[in-house]
Amino acid sequence: MSLLQVREVVSGYGETEILHGVSIAVDEGEIVTIIGPNGSGKSTLLKTIIGLVQAKKGQVRFQGEDITGEAPELIVRKGISYVPQSSNVFPSLTIHENLEMGAFVRTDDFRQRIAEVYDLFPDLAERPRERAGRLSGGQRQMLALARALMLDPVLLLLDEPSAGLAPNLVTLVLEKILGINRTGVAIVLVEQNAHQALKLSSRGYVLASGQNQLEDRGERLLENPEVARLYLGR
Ligand SMILES: Nc1ncnc2c1ncn2[C@@H]1O[C@H](COP(=O)(O)OP(=O)(O)OP(=O)(O)O)[C@@H](O)[C@H]1O
Ligand SMILES: [Mg+2]
Repeated sequence: MSLLQVREVVSGYGETEILHGVSIAVDEGEIVTIIGPNGSGKSTLLKTIIGLVQAKKGQVRFQGEDITGEAPELIVRKGISYVPQSSNVFPSLTIHENLEMGAFVRTDDFRQRIAEVYDLFPDLAERPRERAGRLSGGQRQMLALARALMLDPVLLLLDEPSAGLAPNLVTLVLEKILGINRTGVAIVLVEQNAHQALKLSSRGYVLASGQNQLEDRGERLLENPEVARLYLGR
């Protein structure tokens, strides 16, 4: 049984249908990359999974349970964390306050978790009182990842976590994501840096115009001439 199953999902904004029946599956502990042109519906897919956009048709199942149409807070509580494409930290709050906000649905004592998350992100642990708005782009993405981990998720949805970063920082962020995955967290990774993302993924999907276009093992997509031409810049 897959950890996450998105089956023939139709969704969009108001009257505008963006996803016309998209299906993906994610197994426990997997990294699955989603690539596709701008506007193909990658972000809309993540928003539909987490419940920010309502599915009009189709189904989203998580750990065997139908979560279609549930409120985002409930879905988050079930073990899915989401890092949006932009505005994914609170700039006026400190690093530490951002992590506390990340634990918003937790009612237990989360001090232990903050310590674990700081262990994963030693750079953040060095300056917990720094305001997020003063961090560099790379550090801010690290904080967004750290914040999402506060809920100890089973599945992490990441929308272009390396966007706009210099090449060395792209590598650093993707390595961190691999590290998170090795702690047992399954990951859905939407990425423009398709080559590096597919290299660390077990499987990948290509979306185009709100529809599934291709699906294969990461290394097989890398070898696919059409994928190479359209998404890998060669
Ligand atoms: N809040 C919104 N209201 C109306 N239309 C929207 C909204 N958000 C996105 N869209 C439209 O939905 C389509 C798909 O957008 P989406 O953000 O899912 O694409 P994407 O694949 O993530 O693109 P990108 O690579 O640029 O991030 C686009 O045509 C976009 O203009
Ligand atoms: Mg997007």
